[in-house]
Amino acid sequence: MIKIDLKQYGLDTSWAGQNFMLFDELESTNDYIKQHLSRMKSGQIISARYQEKGKGRNGNIWHGEKDTALLFSILIKRGLNSKQASKTVFITAIALHAAINEIYDVKTKIKWPNDIFIKDKKVAGILTEMYEHSLIIGVGINVNQKSFPDEIKDIANSLYLSTNHGENIFVVLSLFLNYFEKYFELYLEQGFLEMREKILENFYLKDKTVSIQSGNDLFKGVVRGMNEQGELELETQNRVIYIPAGEVHVCL
Ligand code: BTN
Repeated sequence: MIKIDLKQYGLDTSWAGQNFMLFDELESTNDYIKQHLSRMKSGQIISARYQEKGKGRNGNIWHGEKDTALLFSILIKRGLNSKQASKTVFITAIALHAAINEIYDVKTKIKWPNDIFIKDKKVAGILTEMYEHSLIIGVGINVNQKSFPDEIKDIANSLYLSTNHGENIFVVLSLFLNYFEKYFELYLEQGFLEMREKILENFYLKDKTVSIQSGNDLFKGVVRGMNEQGELELETQNRVIYIPAGEVHVCL
């Protein structure tokens, strides 16, 4: 494990990323934080060059090629209530969007609730987990991959493949953390309205016909937006409904 001072890559925060530990290999950066939670301060970042059991949402595996993907988790120990914790995925998404669009000549979209897309393919995913009153935000960004394995090549994209621009992963991380801290504090001070607007300006699912698996229910309809609670607004055949969580599939 090495400790790196991210200031040399442009970090300009007061707490996010002030402690940064990079491992050669871990099973999962989210799980590492859980195992060492009591020793860590809020804002700690754990990153790994490779994960053996990278976790995605809904029990999926997160694929990440060594060194080309940016894989990290942020620990937040701020006594968040469950509503605040559930909104953090959106704060993370909008900070990823802002950082990527500043570094690269590209326009990313946010796929509710936790993915960053370029041209109908995923470039980044977020997995937030509450653990012993702390929040762990895991992020995987496909930065410099030049290709993907056959089983995911139709759904995965990298920033390099989309722009032909290779970038140091710690530059991407540092700029993301600058935005993340700023937006997170803004959200805690002022609420969700401004963040919601930023998300809706870059809303991948807008007016798309989708099916959504939410618990045991399957909903179909056209996405119209997201309300102040972060719920997806879905126009079904006979009414508008709001969905708090779920796995969205776009119907072609
Ligand atoms: C998803 O899109 O399903 C979420 C993917 C989150 C992957 C990241 S990689 C770093 C962190 N550690 C994990 O085990 N998962 C997250």
